[in-house]
Formats: sequence, C-alpha cells, structure tokens
Amino acid sequence: MTTRTVALTGALGNAGRVISRRLEEGGYRVIPIDVLPSRNPFFEPSRVVDLTCYGDTVANLHGADAVVHFGSNPWPDSDFFTGADRFRNNTIATFNVFQAACQLGIRRVVYASSETVQGHPYVAVHPERIPILESDAPLPQTAYALSKLTAELLGEHLCRMHGTVFLGLRCANILYDVPGHHAGYDLVPGYWADAAVRRETLWKYVDSLDVADAVVCALEAPVARSEVFNIAAADTIMNVGTRALFEAHFPKTVIADEFGEFATPVSLAKAADLIGWVPKRRWRDRLAGHAHPP
Ligand SMILES: NC(=O)c1ccc[n+]([C@@H]2O[C@H](COP(=O)([O-])OP(=O)(O)OC[C@H]3O[C@@H](n4cnc5c(N)ncnc54)[C@H](O)[C@@H]3O)[C@@H](O)[C@H]2O)c1
Repeated sequence: MTTRTVALTGALGNAGRVISRRLEEGGYRVIPIDVLPSRNPFFEPSRVVDLTCYGDTVANLHGADAVVHFGSNPWPDSDFFTGADRFRNNTIATFNVFQAACQLGIRRVVYASSETVQGHPYVAVHPERIPILESDAPLPQTAYALSKLTAELLGEHLCRMHGTVFLGLRCANILYDVPGHHAGYDLVPGYWADAAVRRETLWKYVDSLDVADAVVCALEAPVARSEVFNIAAADTIMNVGTRALFEAHFPKTVIADEFGEFATPVSLAKAADLIGWVPKRRWRDRLAGHAHPP
C-alpha cells in the first residue's frame, strides 16, 4: 500500500510529536491536527481543530490518504465528572474522525486504543491468565477505558458498513527517552522498591519510538479488516521476574508455562504476525545509554 498524506490528530501531544517526526522521516506528508494551538506555529504549524465538531473534522481530513488518530484526553478518571467529560470528548471526537474518514473515502485509520480496556486498574478484576490476548473479553473499569472500547466497536462496525479499515493500537503506558519528562525513563528505578506502584498497569510500558514504529507498520500492512493489537515493550518495567510479580499480586491468574522471565504479560504475537511489528526498545538499554544513569 502506498500512503503519502496522513492526517495526524493529537499532533501536538506527547505521542503525537514523536509519531509526526517518524512519519516525516518515513517520507509521509503529515497534516497535523490538534485542538490546542502550537506554542510556536512557525516551527510547528498545525491545524487547530476541535474534533468534536463534525463539519470541521470532515473539512480538515479532506485530502488525506490515511488518518492516524491519537487526539484524545488520555488521563485516567479521577471522579465521575471528569470521567463523563473524557468519555464525551474522546467518543465524539473518535466517531467524527472515523465517520469523516468513511465519508471522504479514506481507506485506512490507525488509532490509539489503550491497554486499559483489559481491566486497568485491576482492583475489581484480575487477568484470568497471562499472556493476555487481544481476543480475551475486555473488562473496562473506567470511563476512559469505555471510550477506548467504544472506539474499537466503532472501528469494527464502520468497517463493515463502509469498508474503511480501522487498526487500533492498545498501547501500554508510553515512556519517553527524554530526561525530566513526566513519563521519562529516569523514573523507572523509582518503581522498583514497591511493586504495588505500577501494579495497575500490570508493569507494562512501551517506548514512544516503538509506538511510532507500530503506527507506520499499521499504515503499511496488508490487513483488510479492522483489528486491535497489544502494543507493549517485550519486558516489564520491573527488575524482578513477571512470574514472581503475578504470584504476589494476582495469585489467581494462571501463568502460561512458556512465560519468559521478564516477559510482558500481554501477547505481542498478533502484532508481529499481522502488521510485522515487534518492540525494539527496553528500559535496560535506555538507562544504560543515559550519561548519568539514575
Ligand atoms: N500516554 C499513555 O501512556 C497512553 C497509553 C495508551 C494509550 N494512549 C492514547 O494515546 C493517545 C495520545 O496520548 P498522549 O499521551 O500523547 O496524550 P496527550 O494529552 O499528550 O496528547 C493528546 C492530544 O490530543 C489533543 N486532543 C484532545 N482532545 C481533542 C479534540 N477534541 N480535538 C482535537 N485534539 C484533541 C490534545 O490537545 C493533545 O495534544 C491518546 O489517544 C491516548 O488515549 C496513551
């Protein structure tokens, strides 16, 4: 498939900036879209669009060969009111982007779903077994996770209705190799003293460059139906084995026999098989590369 012009929503967000660079390096022309104006429009021109407005969404996706939809409110709910606001923003924006793509005859949309559809923060539920597969029943626990699961459902049915292919990336917690970043690798050693701190993510993470690679793989893969993929680093964020973590924190979870010592608790096989994506970055290498490892 040759896709040259990509409309990128959430282009000024943390992941969006990395994806934008990766797409441009890969030879794509990017139409950057965000509800926020750029702090420096001369260096970082973008289209200011609130995707919850359908007309503006259609007008700004016009001319794109494909859409990468990462524009949403990514924060977990702090209460019912913030949850309602997040669900409204994310779900209406996603519906508008997806339907506008269909209306304009755009054949492919790659979008950010989230690991949270599988049960985050794992207080009321626990994983039945690991590794978790994409086909396991979703167990959303928050309005944010419901907004992402709704995106997956919209992708499935709009594909059936119009033929546009929607590929959802169930990203784990995205980390950045940027010292001082709120989700930077320098925080990682701070998680080791108390495994309960990262329990709610099942100790998963993914490097932002691996997310950007997954976007490119999903844009280019010969997949003709809507799918979702686990997108996580191959290992956990912890310096102790995954089996020990689950035995201590999720004693009822069944652990597959072949489980690797530090392996992430989600299966990455589907992404490897269907879109040819495998994660390349690990915190061990990232921290080793820092001039002053924490
Ligand atoms: N950060 C993570 O660890 C993580 C994990 C899994 C999935 N995700 C998903 O990845 C995507 C990007 O996350 P991020 O961490 O870069 O978030 P971010 O907040 O840094 O970026 C999101 C961007 O979307 C824009 N946006 C929000 N609502 C919009 C609207 N109505 N119209 C236009 N733009 C809008 C925001 O202005 C922001 O720039 C989100 O969909 C998020 O849910 C993030």
